[in-house]
Amino acid sequence: YAAVATGFALAVTLPRAGNLAGGGFMVIHLAGGKKTIALDYREMAPMASERSMFLDKKGDADKQLSRYSALSSGVPGTVAGLVHAQANYGTLTLKEVIQPAIMLARDGFPVNVDLSNSLASRFERLSKNSASKSYFFKENGEFYQPGEFFVQTHLANTLERISKDGVSGFYEGHTAQLIVDEMRRLGGLISEDDLKNYRVVTREPVCGIFHKNTICAMPPPSSGGVHLIQMLNILEGWDLKSLGHNSAAYIHRLTEVMRRAYADRSAYLGDPDFYSVPIDQIVHKEYADSLRSGISLVKATASTDIQPGLGIDPETLILNSGHGDKESSETTHFSTWDRWGNVVSNTTTLNFSYGNGISIPGAGFLMNNEMDDFSAKPGTPNAFGLLGGAANAVEPYKRPLSSMTPAIVFDEKGLPLLVTGSPGGSTIITTVLQTILNVLVFEMGIAEASSVPRIHHQWFPDKLLFESGVSPDTLSILSDMGHDISDVDYVIGATQSIQRGSNGTILGAPDPRRPGAGAVPQ
Ligand code: GLY
Repeated sequence: YAAVATGFALAVTLPRAGNLAGGGFMVIHLAGGKKTIALDYREMAPMASERSMFLDKKGDADKQLSRYSALSSGVPGTVAGLVHAQANYGTLTLKEVIQPAIMLARDGFPVNVDLSNSLASRFERLSKNSASKSYFFKENGEFYQPGEFFVQTHLANTLERISKDGVSGFYEGHTAQLIVDEMRRLGGLISEDDLKNYRVVTREPVCGIFHKNTICAMPPPSSGGVHLIQMLNILEGWDLKSLGHNSAAYIHRLTEVMRRAYADRSAYLGDPDFYSVPIDQIVHKEYADSLRSGISLVKATASTDIQPGLGIDPETLILNSGHGDKESSETTHFSTWDRWGNVVSNTTTLNFSYGNGISIPGAGFLMNNEMDDFSAKPGTPNAFGLLGGAANAVEPYKRPLSSMTPAIVFDEKGLPLLVTGSPGGSTIITTVLQTILNVLVFEMGIAEASSVPRIHHQWFPDKLLFESGVSPDTLSILSDMGHDISDVDYVIGATQSIQRGSNGTILGAPDPRRPGAGAVPQ
């Protein structure tokens, strides 16, 4: 229940990413049956969506439309996801788990420095929408200062409706009407039927074995789990520990592995209800061996020399689905672990910070701009620079491909050892990968594993990104090997993790990269 209560509370206290009208993924390990499941509450494209809906008259991708217009919103999944998790796996009632969120919204809570700065920095975008302007700034347009109370009455009313009526309190009745009215007014596509037809999908997590440990993570429509396991498979063939953490030899291998995984991502990953994602082939150990054997240990490969590696024409994997009749960089992650060993890894998002900036008047929440995660046009990158094609083209009721990677690592006995995940758009998968390697290979405690500098490569752009703290000597060796190195002026990921220590102690660690996070003992 802690996970569901946290999900609702974040919709109040972290409006940039916590949400009611976004989507996400929850990987749940149930201690009793030693069972792990993956809940998909990702947004769906509205029924009236079309493949070319984000192209302008010249046939080019129109970023304004896919990121900031009402068309950028997919049908929200979060409320359905949280209510489903509570009903099927929770121990308290829905009323009990929503109550703290209602109180936070109705009575207000003191604004912290993070929220104050974050809202002020987005004034331009949020104030273009009159509902957002009234919800997130004072009546005279002034910013909320740290310590001042932030009250969200309309949001409290919406949460009350959900508390009383469950999913119908959001997907039908007054809340649904407010959403549909605003979509109509602004030219969005979400209809009454789209909201009524939204479905949470329970999926098998994608799991792999790395040396002695099993790792389970989110399957498609996230690319996270598949490529996490693929990258671990390739890396398993080298003695990484002897190379040393963040040595040039280690970073080179990581980079080459990331380059190949993201090439595959561009071609073979999409919503599995619409596209036959070749998961088994991508996570096969033999495929990992063949990719590893193509990696030079002394020289960087140019990304232009790497293509998706399975040798399958991506177009042949399109399913003739009767779309919709099947169940089918700013995100936030939380991890929970109870005393019985039930573990939840949850990543949720509106896509950008504050989504598309459009709030629903009277309902008090922001809409997502998740439609930008579809591939608007083959070969044209989305906001995270990610490429895609037919596998991730827009289709009615399809879910856009994600990078969110909620993950759980198990020990040899099948007991949870580490639960982790991160925001960060395209850098999520590589962040989770490095956190897991830091714990499993370099034997770091979770606080250190969360803090040490990270790198990122995603095939295109062909740049090896690094955070401050990677030694200049190391960077010079990598540059000599042919890597185009580039320091980031932002951070790579921001994990929220829990680890079981060697003496059985449960240790939580918020990533120090971003403010406002914490660990609370059970
Ligand atoms: N919207 C970012 C992601 O889902 O990967």
